[in-house]
Amino acid sequence: MLTKTFARALAALAIALPLLAQANEGASLPPAGNDIRNEASLQRGARNFMNYCSGCHSAKYIRYNRVAADLHIGESELKQNLMFTSEKPADTIASAMPAADAKKWFGVVPPDLSLIARSRGTAYLSAFLHGFYRDPSRPTGVNNTMLPGTAMPHVLNALQGVQTAVFKTENGKSEFEKFELTDKGSLTPAQYDDFVRDTVNFLDYVGEPVQAKRQDLGIWVTLFLMLFGAFSYLLYKDYWRDVH
Ligand code: HEC
Repeated sequence: MLTKTFARALAALAIALPLLAQANEGASLPPAGNDIRNEASLQRGARNFMNYCSGCHSAKYIRYNRVAADLHIGESELKQNLMFTSEKPADTIASAMPAADAKKWFGVVPPDLSLIARSRGTAYLSAFLHGFYRDPSRPTGVNNTMLPGTAMPHVLNALQGVQTAVFKTENGKSEFEKFELTDKGSLTPAQYDDFVRDTVNFLDYVGEPVQAKRQDLGIWVTLFLMLFGAFSYLLYKDYWRDVH
C-alpha cells in the first residue's frame, strides 16, 4: 500500500517538476523565445554582447575561453571579434568602463550581467531591451517601461530606432498601451526581435553555462528513477508473494 502511494507520488513529482520549473518565469510577459541549444544564435548573442553591452557591463563569472569552447568559437576568431586587445583568453569578461567613471556618468554602476538572466528571467530581459522609448524629461532622452527612470541609455537606438510610448488614461491613471516606432533604425522590427532574442539567449547561457547538459542529464536521471522504481516495485511484489 505504502509503496503504491509512494510510486504515485513519485510519478506526480516527475510530471510536476518540469512544469514548476517553467512556471517561475515572469508570468504576464511574453516569453523571450530563445533556445540555449541553438549554437548559431548563441554565437551571434556573444558578438552582440561584446559589441553593444560589454562597454559598460561585465560578465565576471565567465571566461572568454569557456565561451569559446562551449560555443565552438576558434581562438583567432575569439581574439579578433570578441575580446578587447589587452585581454587574455583565460580572463573573465570585464567591462571596458572603470566603475568610478560609470558612477560619475550614470549615477549607478551598470550591474554585472553574469547572473541577470537568472535573477530577472529571460522574458524580462527581452521586454527590457524592447522597452526603451523617447522621454525628453530624462537625461538620457529615453525611459523604459520595465524599469521606469532607468539610468541606462538606449544603446541599441541605431539598430531599433526610437519608439514613442502611447499611454491611455483610465480612471485618472495613465497606463502604457503600445509603442509606435517614430524614428526607424537600421534593422526592421523583426530583425531587432532576432537581435534581442540572440542577446538574451547568450545571457541565459552565461547565467548557467551547463544548462543544456544539466537538462540532458536530468532526463536520464528521471528515466533511471522511473525504471528503478518499477523494478523495486516488482521485487517487492515478488518478496511478499507468499506472505499475502
Ligand atoms: C552606456 C552604458 C551601457 C551600455 C552600453 C549597456 N548598458 Fe545596460 N545598464 C547601464 C546602466 C547605467 C544600468 C543601470 C540602470 C539602472 O539601474 O537604472 C544598466 C542596467 C542594465 C540591466 C538591469 C536592468 C534591471 O532591471 O535592473 C540590464 C538587464 C542591462 N543593463 C542590459 C544591457 C544589455 C543586454 C546591453 C547590451 C545590449 C546593455 N545593457 C548595454 C548602462 C549600459
